[in-house]
Amino acid sequence: MAFYEQDVGVHIDEKKLQARVRELGEQITRDYQGKELTLICVLKGSAFFAMDLARYVDLPLTIEFLGVSSYQGGTETTGEVRITTDVSKPMAGKHLLVIEDIIDTGLTMSFLLENLKARHPASLKVCSLLEKPSRARTQIPIDYKGFVIDDVFVVGYGLDYAERYRNLPFIGVMKGK
Ligand code: XMP
Ligand code: MG
Repeated sequence: MAFYEQDVGVHIDEKKLQARVRELGEQITRDYQGKELTLICVLKGSAFFAMDLARYVDLPLTIEFLGVSSYQGGTETTGEVRITTDVSKPMAGKHLLVIEDIIDTGLTMSFLLENLKARHPASLKVCSLLEKPSRARTQIPIDYKGFVIDDVFVVGYGLDYAERYRNLPFIGVMKGK
Protein backbone atom coordinates (compact mmCIF):
# COMPACT_ATOMS: atom_id res chain seq x y z
CA MET A 1 0.00 0.00 0.00
CA ALA A 2 1.39 3.40 -1.01
CA PHE A 3 2.14 5.85 1.80
CA TYR A 4 -0.82 8.13 1.06
CA GLU A 5 -3.60 5.62 0.40
CA GLN A 6 -5.08 5.61 3.87
CA ASP A 7 -5.59 9.39 3.87
CA VAL A 8 -5.87 10.43 0.21
CA GLY A 9 -8.15 9.30 -2.63
CA VAL A 10 -7.64 10.10 -6.33
CA HIS A 11 -9.71 13.06 -7.53
CA ILE A 12 -8.15 13.83 -10.93
CA ASP A 13 -5.86 11.07 -12.17
CA GLU A 14 -2.44 11.59 -13.70
CA LYS A 15 -3.51 10.89 -17.27
CA LYS A 16 -6.38 13.38 -17.20
CA LEU A 17 -4.18 15.94 -15.46
CA GLN A 18 -1.33 15.70 -17.97
CA ALA A 19 -3.73 15.82 -20.94
CA ARG A 20 -5.25 19.05 -19.65
CA VAL A 21 -1.86 20.61 -18.85
CA ARG A 22 -0.78 19.82 -22.40
CA GLU A 23 -3.92 21.50 -23.81
CA LEU A 24 -3.27 24.61 -21.73
CA GLY A 25 0.34 24.69 -22.95
CA GLU A 26 -0.81 24.47 -26.55
CA GLN A 27 -3.36 27.22 -26.03
CA ILE A 28 -0.73 29.47 -24.44
CA THR A 29 1.62 28.72 -27.36
CA ARG A 30 -1.02 29.92 -29.83
CA ASP A 31 -1.97 33.00 -27.83
CA TYR A 32 1.57 34.28 -27.25
CA GLN A 33 2.97 33.72 -30.77
CA GLY A 34 5.69 36.25 -31.54
CA LYS A 35 5.95 37.35 -27.90
CA GLU A 36 8.51 36.63 -25.22
CA LEU A 37 6.61 35.19 -22.26
CA THR A 38 7.45 35.30 -18.56
CA LEU A 39 5.87 32.55 -16.46
CA ILE A 40 5.55 33.47 -12.80
CA CYS A 41 5.43 30.29 -10.77
CA VAL A 42 3.74 30.96 -7.44
CA LEU A 43 5.52 28.88 -4.78
CA LYS A 44 5.21 26.36 -3.53
CA GLY A 45 1.88 25.02 -4.78
CA SER A 46 2.22 25.68 -8.51
CA ALA A 47 5.78 24.37 -8.87
CA PHE A 48 4.88 20.97 -10.34
CA PHE A 49 2.15 22.40 -12.59
CA ALA A 50 4.30 25.29 -13.83
CA MET A 51 7.25 23.05 -14.69
CA ASP A 52 5.04 20.60 -16.61
CA LEU A 53 3.18 23.42 -18.33
CA ALA A 54 6.43 25.10 -19.42
CA ARG A 55 7.43 21.90 -21.23
CA TYR A 56 4.25 22.09 -23.31
CA VAL A 57 4.75 25.75 -24.29
CA ASP A 58 6.55 25.93 -27.61
CA LEU A 59 7.87 29.48 -27.23
CA PRO A 60 10.97 31.20 -25.87
CA LEU A 61 10.17 31.97 -22.24
CA THR A 62 11.55 33.01 -18.89
CA ILE A 63 10.53 31.42 -15.59
CA GLU A 64 10.36 33.46 -12.40
CA PHE A 65 9.45 32.26 -8.92
CA LEU A 66 7.31 34.21 -6.51
CA GLY A 67 6.83 32.91 -3.00
CA VAL A 68 3.66 33.84 -1.17
CA SER A 69 2.31 32.79 2.14
CA SER A 70 -1.41 32.92 2.77
CA TYR A 71 -1.90 29.90 4.97
CA GLN A 72 -0.94 29.11 8.55
CA GLY A 73 -0.88 25.35 8.06
CA GLY A 74 -4.38 23.95 8.23
CA THR A 75 -7.10 24.08 5.63
CA GLU A 76 -8.44 27.58 6.35
CA THR A 77 -7.17 30.80 4.80
CA THR A 78 -6.10 33.56 7.12
CA GLY A 79 -6.79 36.23 4.50
CA GLU A 80 -3.32 37.61 5.06
CA VAL A 81 -0.95 37.42 2.08
CA ARG A 82 2.79 38.04 2.22
CA ILE A 83 5.51 37.86 -0.43
CA THR A 84 8.19 35.60 1.02
CA THR A 85 10.41 35.38 -2.09
CA ASP A 86 10.26 37.99 -4.82
CA VAL A 87 11.02 37.57 -8.55
CA SER A 88 14.65 38.10 -9.55
CA LYS A 89 14.22 40.88 -12.16
CA PRO A 90 12.14 43.97 -12.92
CA MET A 91 8.84 42.99 -14.52
CA ALA A 92 8.23 46.27 -16.39
CA GLY A 93 7.39 45.77 -20.07
CA LYS A 94 7.11 41.98 -19.78
CA HIS A 95 4.26 39.67 -20.78
CA LEU A 96 3.48 38.05 -17.44
CA LEU A 97 1.49 34.87 -16.97
CA VAL A 98 0.92 34.06 -13.30
CA ILE A 99 0.75 30.33 -12.68
CA GLU A 100 -1.25 29.20 -9.65
CA ASP A 101 -2.22 25.80 -8.33
CA ILE A 102 -5.69 26.79 -7.15
CA ILE A 103 -7.91 29.84 -6.85
CA ASP A 104 -10.05 29.33 -3.82
CA THR A 105 -11.29 32.52 -2.14
CA GLY A 106 -9.31 34.50 -4.74
CA LEU A 107 -7.66 36.64 -2.07
CA THR A 108 -4.12 35.49 -2.89
CA MET A 109 -4.49 36.13 -6.62
CA SER A 110 -6.20 39.45 -6.04
CA PHE A 111 -3.22 40.58 -3.96
CA LEU A 112 -0.74 39.24 -6.52
CA LEU A 113 -2.43 40.94 -9.46
CA GLU A 114 -2.45 44.31 -7.69
CA ASN A 115 1.18 43.87 -6.73
CA LEU A 116 2.31 42.86 -10.24
CA LYS A 117 0.20 45.52 -11.99
CA ALA A 118 2.09 48.16 -10.05
CA ARG A 119 5.31 46.97 -11.76
CA HIS A 120 3.94 48.02 -15.19
CA PRO A 121 4.11 44.79 -17.18
CA ALA A 122 3.24 44.81 -20.92
CA SER A 123 0.44 42.33 -20.14
CA LEU A 124 -0.76 40.35 -17.15
CA LYS A 125 -2.77 37.13 -17.32
CA VAL A 126 -3.71 34.31 -14.96
CA CYS A 127 -3.37 30.55 -15.37
CA SER A 128 -4.71 28.35 -12.59
CA LEU A 129 -4.82 24.58 -12.61
CA LEU A 130 -7.87 24.51 -10.33
CA GLU A 131 -10.74 26.79 -9.37
CA LYS A 132 -13.13 26.37 -6.46
CA PRO A 133 -15.85 28.86 -7.46
CA SER A 134 -18.09 28.03 -4.51
CA ARG A 135 -15.60 29.68 -2.14
CA ALA A 136 -14.85 32.81 -4.20
CA ARG A 137 -14.79 36.02 -2.17
CA THR A 138 -13.56 38.16 -5.04
CA GLN A 139 -13.98 37.75 -8.82
CA ILE A 140 -10.72 36.81 -10.53
CA PRO A 141 -10.60 36.60 -14.34
CA ILE A 142 -8.86 33.25 -15.02
CA ASP A 143 -7.48 33.33 -18.56
CA TYR A 144 -6.34 29.69 -18.52
CA LYS A 145 -8.15 27.26 -16.23
CA GLY A 146 -7.43 23.54 -15.84
CA PHE A 147 -10.38 22.21 -13.86
CA VAL A 148 -13.28 23.53 -11.81
CA ILE A 149 -13.71 21.56 -8.58
CA ASP A 150 -16.23 21.36 -5.77
CA ASP A 151 -15.45 22.60 -2.28
CA VAL A 152 -13.18 19.73 -1.27
CA PHE A 153 -9.68 20.04 0.15
CA VAL A 154 -7.30 18.77 -2.52
CA VAL A 155 -3.68 17.72 -2.29
CA GLY A 156 -1.03 16.43 -4.65
CA TYR A 157 0.71 17.74 -7.77
CA GLY A 158 2.14 20.61 -5.70
CA LEU A 159 -0.75 21.05 -3.29
CA ASP A 160 -0.15 20.17 0.32
CA TYR A 161 -1.77 19.41 3.60
CA ALA A 162 0.63 20.71 6.28
CA GLU A 163 3.45 20.46 3.66
CA ARG A 164 2.68 16.83 2.85
CA TYR A 165 1.55 15.16 -0.37
CA ARG A 166 3.00 17.70 -2.84
CA ASN A 167 4.83 14.84 -4.56
CA LEU A 168 1.72 12.88 -5.58
CA PRO A 169 1.48 12.83 -9.41
CA PHE A 170 -2.32 13.30 -9.31
CA ILE A 171 -4.84 15.58 -7.61
CA GLY A 172 -6.11 13.80 -4.54
CA VAL A 173 -8.73 14.51 -1.95
CA MET A 174 -8.21 14.17 1.77
CA LYS A 175 -10.44 11.47 3.16
CA GLY A 176 -12.72 12.78 5.91
CA LYS A 177 -11.90 16.51 5.40
P1 XMP B 1 -7.08 31.74 -1.94
O1 XMP B 1 -8.16 31.42 -0.95
O2 XMP B 1 -6.31 32.96 -1.56
O3 XMP B 1 -6.16 30.50 -1.84
O4 XMP B 1 -7.62 31.82 -3.37
C1 XMP B 1 -5.13 30.30 -2.64
C2 XMP B 1 -4.15 29.38 -1.96
O5 XMP B 1 -4.74 28.61 -0.91
C3 XMP B 1 -4.27 27.31 -0.92
N1 XMP B 1 -5.40 26.39 -1.08
C4 XMP B 1 -5.32 25.07 -1.05
N2 XMP B 1 -4.27 24.26 -0.85
N3 XMP B 1 -5.68 22.39 -1.08
C5 XMP B 1 -4.46 22.92 -0.87
O6 XMP B 1 -3.51 22.16 -0.72
C6 XMP B 1 -6.80 23.13 -1.27
O7 XMP B 1 -7.88 22.58 -1.45
C7 XMP B 1 -6.59 24.54 -1.23
N4 XMP B 1 -7.45 25.57 -1.39
C8 XMP B 1 -6.66 26.68 -1.26
C9 XMP B 1 -3.31 27.23 -2.07
O8 XMP B 1 -2.00 27.38 -1.58
C10 XMP B 1 -3.64 28.40 -2.94
O9 XMP B 1 -2.55 28.90 -3.65
MG1 MG C 1 -0.60 28.25 -3.45
